Amino acid sequence: MSRAKVNIAVFVSGGGTNLQALIDKQKSGIIKSGEIKLVVSSNKDAFALERAKKANIPCAVVSKKECGSQEEFEKKLRELLKENKIELIVLAGFMCILSESFTSKYPKRIINVHPSLIPSFCGKGYYGLKVHEAALEYGVKVTGATVHFVNEIPDGGEIIMQRAVEVSDGDTPETLQKRVMVNAEWIILPQAVEKVSAQLLAEKK
Ligand code: GAR
Repeated sequence: MSRAKVNIAVFVSGGGTNLQALIDKQKSGIIKSGEIKLVVSSNKDAFALERAKKANIPCAVVSKKECGSQEEFEKKLRELLKENKIELIVLAGFMCILSESFTSKYPKRIINVHPSLIPSFCGKGYYGLKVHEAALEYGVKVTGATVHFVNEIPDGGEIIMQRAVEVSDGDTPETLQKRVMVNAEWIILPQAVEKVSAQLLAEKK
């Protein structure tokens, strides 16, 4: 007999607005095939941890610096995932790159939200506000967000969902970031999490 829900871990590093969108959509029933069982932050001061605590979700901090090496960092992450019987990992503003040795252990079980329309403005060095700075610098008139599976290529895994957002005259990286979050990321990340969780549930039956 299979369990009713997929166990989800959300990896964060900062403000955690995408984590908040996941928590809210779980409460409202849009995410119904999975349940957030664990939040892992790479940064002990991340506001995302406050959001997790407020929602009564267990959290952990795993700092790459304190671990001393990528191997040790990923070993700690793997231990936490095993202890909590995690089946799906969601990178929601997680600012650390995971090695192939890690990603290959969870094929099609790690998803990431990126604040551009991949393949534009993605890969190594493109994260957070830098993505929006690059989009404005280039002069694109449309940008957006992408949710994709994570493999060994940074931002290179199969695309699950995308949503476009118009760039406005006079946008700053900050105004553009906010519009992309509100009109794309916070909508498609929960939708993609539900889609993948439902697929994983169906596979278990
Ligand atoms: C989000 O815009 C997310 O797409 C981006 O960082 C921000 C985190 O905000 N992620 C990346 O750039 C990953 N390459 P949040 O902590 O408020 O969710």
